[in-house]
Amino acid sequence: MTSIFVTGTDTEVGKTTISIGLIAKLQERGLVVAAMKPIASGCERMSEGLRNEDALILSKQATVSLPYNVINPYAFESAIAPHIAAQQVGVVINIKSIKQHYNQIQQQVDAVVVEGAGGWLVPLNDQDTMADLAIALDLPVVLVVAIRLGCINHALLSVQAIEQSGLSLYGWVANHVEDNKQTAAIVSSLKDNITAPCLGNVPYLSSGKLATEYLDLGGDDD
Ligand SMILES: Nc1ncnc2c1ncn2[C@@H]1O[C@H](COP(=O)(O)OP(=O)(O)OP(=O)(O)O)[C@@H](O)[C@H]1O
Ligand SMILES: [Mg+2]
Repeated sequence: MTSIFVTGTDTEVGKTTISIGLIAKLQERGLVVAAMKPIASGCERMSEGLRNEDALILSKQATVSLPYNVINPYAFESAIAPHIAAQQVGVVINIKSIKQHYNQIQQQVDAVVVEGAGGWLVPLNDQDTMADLAIALDLPVVLVVAIRLGCINHALLSVQAIEQSGLSLYGWVANHVEDNKQTAAIVSSLKDNITAPCLGNVPYLSSGKLATEYLDLGGDDD
């Protein structure tokens, strides 16, 4: 596996945290890695333009330094669903345009880690969802599951939808976003019900600690 599309069971489930771990993991294999957060709602207005924290964190971990608007072509100030944020400022999110940015990046590196926004079926405009973007980029998918009450249903629905899209679910990550010890049975249940491999069981991390050491991408180097 090289390039990947990282989605999650919801917003705030650890997509960025795990994406950073995945970038580091690919870098350990000697790959030159770029990151993309193509659509971000919830941006800060800076002198140089709208800037999103995820895009900035991801690009800090990436091997190559790229212009901000290539990493995050759609940046919206409001922290709401992308199609609504876009509508509010009269923008229509165009998947083809994101694909052009992706192609431009991909030519310069060995791997691109693309972080979605929200979950798999988040609308981008009147026609397309995040799933359509992943399909257009034709990338294997990694699903981040926040381990908490309700996550089995969210995870299985997401797995079903990813499989229906025709893309390959490369694997999923159990991400412990809460400091709760009673989670082993949830993870075990997810393992029993998801055919794709579990790429990591990431504990609740102390501030600043990376997920890298808890991830296993498979193949020879891990
Ligand atoms: N394993 C973990 N241990 C402790 N804190 C975590 C863990 N994973 C994520 N977090 C924290 O949970 C919050 C949400 O994580 P993160 O930003 O990675 O989620 P996200 O899915 O990328 O969110 P968004 O939908 O906004 O892009 C962050 O404050 C992050 O530091
Ligand atoms: Mg994020």
